[in-house]
Amino acid sequence: MAEENKHNKLTTASGRIYVENENSKTVGPRGPILLEDYILHEKMAHFNRERIPERVVHAKGSGAFGTFTVTNDISAYTKAKVFNKIGKKTKVFLRFSTVGGEKGSPDTERDPRGFAVKFYTEDGNWDLVGNNTPVFFIKDPKKFSDFIHTQKRDPYTNCKSPTMMWDYWSLTPESLHQVLILMSDRGTPVGYRHMNGYGSHTFSMINAKNEKTYVKYHFKTAQGIKNLTDEEAAQMKAKDLDFSQRDLVESIDKGDFPKWNMKIQVMTPEQAKKVDFNPFDLTKVWPHSEFPLIDVGVLELNQNPDNYFQDVEQSAFAPAHLVDGLGYSPDKMLQGRLLSYPDAHRYRLGGNYEQIPVNRCPYAVNNYQRDGVMSVNGNGGRKPNYWPNSFDEVEVDKTYQEPSEQLEENIADWYDRNSKLGGNDHYSQPRALFRDVMSKEEQDNTIKNTIGAMSGVSGPKRDLIINRQLCHWFRMDEEFGARVAKGLGVDLNAVMSASSGSH
Ligand code: HEM
Repeated sequence: MAEENKHNKLTTASGRIYVENENSKTVGPRGPILLEDYILHEKMAHFNRERIPERVVHAKGSGAFGTFTVTNDISAYTKAKVFNKIGKKTKVFLRFSTVGGEKGSPDTERDPRGFAVKFYTEDGNWDLVGNNTPVFFIKDPKKFSDFIHTQKRDPYTNCKSPTMMWDYWSLTPESLHQVLILMSDRGTPVGYRHMNGYGSHTFSMINAKNEKTYVKYHFKTAQGIKNLTDEEAAQMKAKDLDFSQRDLVESIDKGDFPKWNMKIQVMTPEQAKKVDFNPFDLTKVWPHSEFPLIDVGVLELNQNPDNYFQDVEQSAFAPAHLVDGLGYSPDKMLQGRLLSYPDAHRYRLGGNYEQIPVNRCPYAVNNYQRDGVMSVNGNGGRKPNYWPNSFDEVEVDKTYQEPSEQLEENIADWYDRNSKLGGNDHYSQPRALFRDVMSKEEQDNTIKNTIGAMSGVSGPKRDLIINRQLCHWFRMDEEFGARVAKGLGVDLNAVMSASSGSH
């Protein structure tokens, strides 16, 4: 823009200078408003369009830009350029979130936390859309919408409903591992800086020799794990709804940049065939004793976005967005998510959502996608809009091709995810977590939190739901089950004799 045309006068969106910004144009001081006061229309009309659909899950969130720095050579597993040199730095954007609440909901709810990282790599944007837990509630994407409905509002009361939640969980034993973590102190972290992040799914890596390794991603907080007690979390809801948002913005503003140490676990395809659990089941972890953590690098958040809506609200992450050297896995949940996210973004932000600055790949993007709502990146200019053509030099590059894959089965069917074949042991891993990993204090708190959460179950099916969930807790650990039953005032002898009498 020519210098002489710059000014700081108030204008319409099309640049017309305002002469008046408080009084509408009326016929006489007491008369009606003239239709021609376009500035009034524009102000009202734009305001009416300020809200876009909130994310259907993970609606409340906070985000920041930062840097990922490689500290260890993992070229044995991957040729991804983002990891190809110790000391290499890559710009990232990270969005944290809660899951079930709306955009204005409290930050300290008992809920998993989202941990979604966008790496702006020279081979394209890589999105790792994880949580602060290494497992998830379900193992088939067909169940996701039902599960999420139970975390949202009851269709009649429009209130959150512990009855829906525990009804669903008690009917879905595969959820037990994640429910145990949710009921532990980690269900209410102190903001976003004091929790770990996990890619959760099994992904894969491909090295320069085209060899595939399965991988799980971990981000260990350098700030140390810190959690709120149930009471502290409840108090914080009343005191500061936006506790985690404020904590993140203020710490970055102060120059106290939060960091996470990125690590991986790796498993060869041969090992994957032999382990005694399904390595592609998102309700299971890989034991660290057998699959130790390997250092990769450090992720630091060091820049608050200047404008929340522009960068945080409009950010869009997709597990499908991988780059050369990184791959998917047969995890059914991951496969479902590959489709779901870009679909959600097209609905929430429009078909050209990848042109929004925070989502845009800062390196080369060449394709023949054209037009559509809000095409603002030049739309390919005069360049050809079809391929193949004789005018540009754009080509596909076969050297980027992933190795072909031998599948284990060739019979398509609806395999029961909870049958012996699908891996129906829902109890061993949560049992090990409760007995061998949690301290006595963590065990006590988890039991207390569980009693608190389950005591919200109400209505005519209360006893059925509570007893069904108690059975799962008993199968996991008898003492846990007995203490939760006692806390809920359940007379176990009466339940036992009623159930034995009914058979
Ligand atoms: C089949 C299972 C799942 C489906 C269908 C699903 C679907 C969705 C959808 C539709 C969104 C909103 C996206 C948007 O509007 O931008 C979302 C957000 C999100 N999901 Fe999932 N999800 C699933 C499982 C998971 C799992 C297992 C994790 C973590 C391991 C996860 C982590 C996240 C995160 C972190 C966000 C927020 C991303 C952001 O900050 O913008 N989801 N999910």
